[in-house]
Amino acid sequence: MSVLICGGAGYIGSHMVRWLTERDHEVMVLDNLSTGHREAVQWGQLVEADLMDPASLDRVFARRNVDAVMHFCARSLVGESVAQPYAYYANNVTGTLNLLEAMRRHDVKRLVFSSTAAVFGNPVADVIDEEHPKTPINPYGASKLMVERILTDAAEAYGLRSVALRYFNAAGATSDACIGEAHACETHLIPNVLKSALGTGPALKLFGDDYATPDGTCVRDYVHVEDLAQAHLLAVDYLQDHPGAHAFNLGNGRGFSVREVIETAATVVGNSIDYEVAPRRTGDPAVLVASSSKAREQLGWTPAWTELGPIIESAWRWHQSQPW
Ligand code: UFG
Repeated sequence: MSVLICGGAGYIGSHMVRWLTERDHEVMVLDNLSTGHREAVQWGQLVEADLMDPASLDRVFARRNVDAVMHFCARSLVGESVAQPYAYYANNVTGTLNLLEAMRRHDVKRLVFSSTAAVFGNPVADVIDEEHPKTPINPYGASKLMVERILTDAAEAYGLRSVALRYFNAAGATSDACIGEAHACETHLIPNVLKSALGTGPALKLFGDDYATPDGTCVRDYVHVEDLAQAHLLAVDYLQDHPGAHAFNLGNGRGFSVREVIETAATVVGNSIDYEVAPRRTGDPAVLVASSSKAREQLGWTPAWTELGPIIESAWRWHQSQPW
């Protein structure tokens, strides 16, 4: 299969590139390198192009036949989306529309789209399944939900087949520490914990210990980046026999508190990890845990990384290998 990976120089996209290449698929990477890294594209062919430039998309699709597109390009920082909503709607919605138009012009009918738990907003259930109300509380989540709606309309109007995969907390790195999570502006918990353990990041802050959770800190569902890659490939196969627009939640179904993450990381690195308790971060729901029964049953998804320790260990090996 020939797959175009939009955003393949980024964190999840680069793991996808490797996953597909190892399984003998042909990969072409489209990335504008605004947040992605040239050195993360170690397999496949990198084409620098921008979703905001439709002519550049035509040049990409003209290069070779594409059987399916996986779309990872997005701005994805919740706080930034609140401060710069236009940038989020332009990049995440208009950019995706440009991609969809180009796919239509070049008769490409299968898409896997990176969606997010942020489409649900503040949860009203302990475990979030696909039927949970979708009331995003920030422009990032709203922009992703808009695209999900566009995909439903595109299925009806143009016969586009799509799967939206709603990631909970993506984490970890390849076992051989070849690629990992490298954001210029890091906001995520696990990399921040590991960078503070290495002494390469700022002092760790724990945002809020007064939530209505067992230890007062936020609870999240961490899912390994290679398990996300596995789900994308299964999703493309699923579209072979399933027309329409589909959505699946991806998580391990188990929540870990921020304190549990810090304690597990301390065991992994073999040292205690200092932190200070800071005020709550705006827009953080107390608990986000996925039900992924639908993905398991319908896609045949079986996450391999079900324990938090090995997920953090994989991230730690990669962090240690970096020059920083
Ligand atoms: N946290 C800290 N200190 C840090 C970083 C994070 O205490 O330095 C806390 C956060 O406040 C939160 C938890 O750790 O309680 C997890 O935070 P992350 O930033 O790692 O991840 P989020 O849960 O905020 O983000 C995830 C996805 C987003 C999605 C969001 C929806 O990564 O794509 O959930 O709320 F939008």
